[in-house]
Amino acid sequence: MADHPVRDTINLVSGAWWGTNPHDDLTWMRANAPLYWDGQVWGVSRYADVKAVSKDPDTFSNAQGIRPDSGPMPMMIDMDDPAHFQRRKLVNRGFTPKRVRDREAEIRAVCDQIIDRVAERGECDFVWDIAAPLPLIMIGNDLGVAPEDRQQLLEWSDAMLCALTGDPEHVARAAGAFGGYSDYATKVIADRKSSPRDDLMSVLCHAEVDGDQLDHQELIFESLLILIGGDETTRHVISGGGWQVLHHRDQWEQMVADPSLVTGAVEEMLRWVTPIKNMARAATVDTELGGQHIEAGQKLLLLYPSANRDEAVFEDPFRFDIHRSPNDHVAFGFGTHFCLGNSLARLELRVMFEQLLTRLPDLELVEAEEPSYRAANFVSGYESMPVRFTPTATVG
Ligand code: HEM
Repeated sequence: MADHPVRDTINLVSGAWWGTNPHDDLTWMRANAPLYWDGQVWGVSRYADVKAVSKDPDTFSNAQGIRPDSGPMPMMIDMDDPAHFQRRKLVNRGFTPKRVRDREAEIRAVCDQIIDRVAERGECDFVWDIAAPLPLIMIGNDLGVAPEDRQQLLEWSDAMLCALTGDPEHVARAAGAFGGYSDYATKVIADRKSSPRDDLMSVLCHAEVDGDQLDHQELIFESLLILIGGDETTRHVISGGGWQVLHHRDQWEQMVADPSLVTGAVEEMLRWVTPIKNMARAATVDTELGGQHIEAGQKLLLLYPSANRDEAVFEDPFRFDIHRSPNDHVAFGFGTHFCLGNSLARLELRVMFEQLLTRLPDLELVEAEEPSYRAANFVSGYESMPVRFTPTATVG
């Protein structure tokens, strides 16, 4: 087994480690122990190795679950091809390029409503007033959740995501949340089966590929994956990316003058924030990687934030630069499980920043210090970020 004379105490599954800045340790790993054994799981820190593992699902399987310390759930992310591919084709009916493109006007209207709620105040919490509502409203609309039930959806999503960190206390809370979500979704599914509407749940209820359809349990779990995959992730990129562009004021001003820069800025925000900190794979056979022997059955953690700061790929990787090109980050993963919601997330991010730059051009940070991160080992981001701006009229 690997011997790490300098840093032998890194716990890759510790929420506290991820919640404080892990980049010093990740940089050390890339240089000294690119395959790092922490006693429980292998950390894969280099960009090339993260891609190599993601490209080889025969050797590195998802079927043991994407968390290092718990087993699989019946959803596509915890499956291998061909079963995964079949399931993904069905769910993909809701994520066609046209369906995503057609939502731009809706997203812009939602962003305007969100900004309207704070516009006259001249100050707000960027995390809870700006970043969190957009993905929650979009996913709520997709899954047929009534506006008055969105807060409940947020609580269920939070409880279930926390459970994926393996903490037994969270697991109990998540069981209740799963029951609540499942009952709610069951009613929506029954309704959309008999009277489809123009929402994702209707598309999923009626999607058919080669005579195959999603059954009730599959509808519950795949919609749940969309909820936990698309809510907090997008929130953290809006807030973490927002902090960077407001902190690097010259870059914010450049975008105010030329909003076409937002598209590139969004890619840099994704690279920088990388809200999904890792995904696990399990070796199906004994194999070699990065000079280490991996035993069949051992799990590996793809350390996306590390890959996205790999100096072998990104020039000056610790510089935040909205002009970075190329910017071939792996914030959405790589290979057969590449994020199904990436186009929707990119659209939400672009439109939100376009509206902020136009409507609140003098937006600024209240505190110079970077906000603290949630201590979580899977999806993590800021918990609060006070901002201020010149009060402005609503448009709604
Ligand atoms: C900034 C926002 C997002 C980030 C950073 C992100 C990141 C990721 C990552 C890293 C994966 C795993 C890829 C791999 O294993 O190679 C993934 C998978 C997935 N994501 Fe996202 N995601 C985001 C938003 C969304 C949204 C908005 C949705 C849906 C509305 C979504 C739905 C999914 C689904 C369904 C999968 C599983 C795909 C599969 O197993 O084939 N994600 N995402």
